[in-house]
Amino acid sequence: MLEAIALFLAGMHFGVPLAYYYYAKTRWLPKPWNIKVDENYRPKVTIILPTYNEEKIIKERLENIYNQVYPKELMEIVIVDSSNDKTAEIVETWHNNNNDIKITLIREKERRGKAFALNEALRDANNDIVIIADADALWPENAVCEAVKWFSDFSVGAVSCLKKPMEQGFLGIEGGYRSYYNILRLAESKAFSTPIFHGELAAFRKELLLKVNGFPTDIGSDDSHTATEIASIGYRSITPEIWVNEKVPKENYASWKIRRAQHLIQHFMKATKLRIKNKTFKKILAAETYLHVINPWILLIATLLLIVDVLLFKSLISLTLVFIGSILLLIKEYRTWLMQQIYLIIAAIKNIKTKEIAWNKQVK
Ligand code: GDD
Ligand code: MN
Repeated sequence: MLEAIALFLAGMHFGVPLAYYYYAKTRWLPKPWNIKVDENYRPKVTIILPTYNEEKIIKERLENIYNQVYPKELMEIVIVDSSNDKTAEIVETWHNNNNDIKITLIREKERRGKAFALNEALRDANNDIVIIADADALWPENAVCEAVKWFSDFSVGAVSCLKKPMEQGFLGIEGGYRSYYNILRLAESKAFSTPIFHGELAAFRKELLLKVNGFPTDIGSDDSHTATEIASIGYRSITPEIWVNEKVPKENYASWKIRRAQHLIQHFMKATKLRIKNKTFKKILAAETYLHVINPWILLIATLLLIVDVLLFKSLISLTLVFIGSILLLIKEYRTWLMQQIYLIIAAIKNIKTKEIAWNKQVK
């Protein structure tokens, strides 16, 4: 009996995401964007760069933005810094040597988390398109062009990127995780909008940011949640193929993944309170909420049932199932998937105690 329930739950745990992935890939991914893009659209943009102790990489990042193929007179950079290292000094020196681009440096008196910093920067943002840029990512040189062109169509409210990890992470997990998720992001974007954005490059119509009252400061996933709010009022929030390189921490990879999982769960929980206009987006949001908030627990319950069945009732079937489940660990994709489920479960438990709004820095 127990083995039947466990098998059913395991089937559900693996079946639902596979079915969703298959559906998204075959029905949504081949769709046209249904967005009228003007490749030559060149609006004025404000690039917001929040920084907390980024002295090691800030110069490379500024140069990366400076080298964008985009007219410098149409760009301004607003840096909001809450560091206690030399980040701000490095920015000032760099700007003295490169004063053909407008830079505003805001020094926060107190560190209150990334979303607070973004809201502060928003007050100094002069342009209609605002692009959030994390310090630890590198953009391809046409990233600004490629992101802003979508805003030439009025239906688009927010644009983010897809991520390529620069390292494969623990046991190759980061690489595997990304290829599955990127297909989903792209497919959801084509269907209407994706509820998962990336702070490494997240562009917004400023008018809409103000309409949703800026970035939420009570949860960690400011980028994804803001994009979801914008999609909920009927604008498209999309992640087209703009590939951004991201530095993956060399140490504490697990705590980095867990913190991000915590933020995603916070975002999806908060999003359950939103009223969604678009029907397709309602489905997308429901599916992603299920995948992040409920699905990991189903696997945990199935596993516990099998273990109880083996230990208490000496079930050979359950023992065989546990054995098969362990053998499958040899497959990289399966390993990646399982680790992600474990991160999500630990994250949900950690969320009870701390939201990690101002998080520890990982060494990259
Ligand atoms: N001013 C300020 N104050 N900046 C901060 C703070 C803060 O308290 N905390 C972090 N930052 C800056 C970092 O310096 C970096 O430029 C950016 O915000 C992102 O921080 P990371 O430490 O690199 O975050 P991450 O990559 O692990 O987190 C990812 O997920 C988050 C949600 O879970 C990113 O995509 C974030 O953008 C996203 O918010
Ligand atoms: Mn980062």
